Amino acid sequence: MKIFVDTANVDDIREAASWGIVDGVTTNPSLVAKEKRNFREVVLEICDIVDGPISAEIVSVKADEMVEDAKKVASWHPNIVIKVPFIPEGVKAIPRLAAEGIKTNVTLCFSANQALLAAKAGGTFCSIFLGRLDDAGHDGMEVVREAVQIYRNYGYATKVLAASIRHPLHVVEAAKAGADIATIPFKVLQQMFQHPLTEIGLKRFLDDWAKVPKSTG
Ligand code: G3P
Repeated sequence: MKIFVDTANVDDIREAASWGIVDGVTTNPSLVAKEKRNFREVVLEICDIVDGPISAEIVSVKADEMVEDAKKVASWHPNIVIKVPFIPEGVKAIPRLAAEGIKTNVTLCFSANQALLAAKAGGTFCSIFLGRLDDAGHDGMEVVREAVQIYRNYGYATKVLAASIRHPLHVVEAAKAGADIATIPFKVLQQMFQHPLTEIGLKRFLDDWAKVPKSTG
């Protein structure tokens, strides 16, 4: 499973990238707004840090404008993937973008039907917001499982991207469900490293090693 970082914070992205386990980055308008920085500048800085798909979202809601805006944003860097909201106008825009060689991340997907249509339209990625589904009392992971199965049944090239991840167990479950990618907030990535037995075990090894007589040669 590929791991993307779900943030627009370049310090966090730099740190995560230094661990060598980051395949890409996803941003959205809310994550960019948190940084209080120019959109183009922040996206280009992310492209400099991570050599992989970098999702940047357009905010237009009419297909023609979406295509124009997407072309502009995609021209900034070859690794940019355009996040298109799953609305009929977005679905209309996706094949037009694909024809221009522009990759898309169909976002705000909450159902298997939406995932099916995102694939039929030719989306490169389909982002299933599983945490927001869980928040609403639904089983978000079930939609990830359904999308994986539907794409496999028909050989769709669209990748299932497990998004809106809230905790490390979501990552494990997404991997078990066969999601192609999990986009993970920095805090959750940090949590994935942690296990009390690792810390206790390392401390014991280091303490014991300190007792071993050291040769001077
Ligand atoms: O980037 C899309 C998605 O991961 C947003 O997550 O936590 O705002 O539901 P969240």
